[in-house]
Amino acid sequence: MAARKQATATRAAPAGSPKLLVLSGPNLDRLGRREPEIYGSTTLAEIHERLAAEAKARGARVECRQSNHEGTLIDWIGSAEDEGFSAILFNPGAFTHTSYALYDAVKGCRLPTIELHLSNPDAREPFRRRSRIAPACLGRIAGFGAASYSLALDAALRHLEGSGSGASNRKARGRTTSP
Ligand code: DQA
Repeated sequence: MAARKQATATRAAPAGSPKLLVLSGPNLDRLGRREPEIYGSTTLAEIHERLAAEAKARGARVECRQSNHEGTLIDWIGSAEDEGFSAILFNPGAFTHTSYALYDAVKGCRLPTIELHLSNPDAREPFRRRSRIAPACLGRIAGFGAASYSLALDAALRHLEGSGSGASNRKARGRTTSP
């Protein structure tokens, strides 16, 4: 069995509050030491702590996990609905640009998923300009450093509250303006 690396941060919140799964892919366990000029000096553990506090303040919960292994991420995405999660925040790392298997996993998971990145991949090397995952996602947040995780949490909660700009809301707006 493939080795797993996992950083977890959970906070208690009232029963019935939305529970969001926060996934980070390969090399993100090295945040803080990995190319800080691109990714900043905040560690993933610090991001998870902050996110847990922000979720709690909004009456929600997060469970944060990290893996360097594509199959582990696929397993987590595939079981997210059965585990009671309402949405997924996903930084797929370099798998963003290569993984049809993760695209399939997100497409089939039946949960709104937000792709997020610390850096802005569109402003970097050409290979980063293509996301294999994006077409399966509700939306994407990129380029705001560690704050991208907080912005993605806000976007997911707004979507779940029905006040965001997600696909279901776009559809609803479209219906009211269509002939
Ligand atoms: C990243 C961007 C990816 O292109 C890169 O491979 C990463 C990190 C980001 O958060 O900016 O590992 O997902």
